[in-house]
Amino acid sequence: MLNFSPQANSLKNKIILVTGAGDGIGRAVSLSYASFGATVILLGRTVKKLEKVYDEIVEKGYPEPAIVPLDLKGATKKHYQDMASTIENQFGRLDGVLHNASILGHLEPFHQISEDMYDEVMQVNVKSQFLMTQALLDVLQLAPNGSVVFTSSSVGNKGRAFWGSYSISKFATEGMMQVLADEYANSSLRFNCINPGGTRTTMRAKAFPGEDPKTLKTPEQIMPLYLYLMSDDSSDKTGNTFVAQPK
Ligand SMILES: NC(=O)c1ccc[n+]([C@@H]2O[C@H](COP(=O)([O-])OP(=O)(O)OC[C@H]3O[C@@H](n4cnc5c(N)ncnc54)[C@H](OP(=O)(O)O)[C@@H]3O)[C@@H](O)[C@H]2O)c1
Repeated sequence: MLNFSPQANSLKNKIILVTGAGDGIGRAVSLSYASFGATVILLGRTVKKLEKVYDEIVEKGYPEPAIVPLDLKGATKKHYQDMASTIENQFGRLDGVLHNASILGHLEPFHQISEDMYDEVMQVNVKSQFLMTQALLDVLQLAPNGSVVFTSSSVGNKGRAFWGSYSISKFATEGMMQVLADEYANSSLRFNCINPGGTRTTMRAKAFPGEDPKTLKTPEQIMPLYLYLMSDDSSDKTGNTFVAQPK
C-alpha cells in the first residue's frame, strides 16, 4: 500500500471531505484525490489558501471542489450538523473524511503547559474530530464503502518528553479511531489512522527548526497510502494505524 498505484479515476464519483485542505499534507491530498476523480470538500480556516487549492483543481480540469471555511477552534456541534445537512442535500452521501488539520501547540516541559494551550490543542485536534465525526456518521452511511481516516503521529502511540498536549491529542485520536472501528465492525463503514512520518511542511519546520527540510519527503511523495485508504481497495481494512514512512 506504500507503493499503491491507483487506477486512473479510482476515486471517480467519490465525495471526500479533507480538513486542513489549504496547506501542507492536506493540500497535497486534496489535489491528489481530485486528480483521481474525487469531488473534494476543502475544509480549513484560511479562505485564501482554500481558494488557491480550489483554483488549482479547477485549472487542471478535475471535478469542481467545494469550500467549507471553518475554524475548528471555535466550531460547535451546530456547525457540524449544518455541514452534514448541506453535504447530504448537495451530494446525497459522503464517501470519505480525512481528519488532517491539527496544531502542534508548544513543545515544552509538562509542568509548563498552560491550561489554555492544552485546551486549544485538545479542541482543534480531538474534540472537533469527535463532533464532526458524530455529525457525519449518518451521511457517511449513505455511501456504499465509507472511509474515515484520522491522522496520528509517531508520538500518538509512544509518549515523548516535551511533546505534551500534541502527543496526548494523538493518543486520543488513535483511541477514537479504535472505538469507532469496533462499533462499526459489522458495517461497511471503516475507520483507520495514518501516521505520515516526518514530512516537509510548516508544522514540521516549527517542531524541528534546525532541520534541513530537503532531508524530508514532500507531502506529494507520501500520497499512495492516502489514496489507498480512500479507494475501495482498502474496503476490508478497519481499526488500523498505517505508517507512511516506516523506519
Ligand atoms: N508534517 C509532519 O512531519 C507530520 C508528522 C506527523 C503527523 N503529522 C500530522 O499530519 C497532519 C497535517 O500536518 P501538516 O504537517 O500538513 O501541518 P500544517 O502544514 O501545519 O497544516 C495543517 C493544516 O491544518 C489547518 N488547521 C490548523 N488549525 C486549524 C483550525 N483551527 N481550523 C481549521 N484548520 C486548521 C491549517 O490551516 P492554515 O493553513 O489556515 O493554518 C493547515 O491547512 C496533522 O494532523 C499533523 O499532526 C504531520
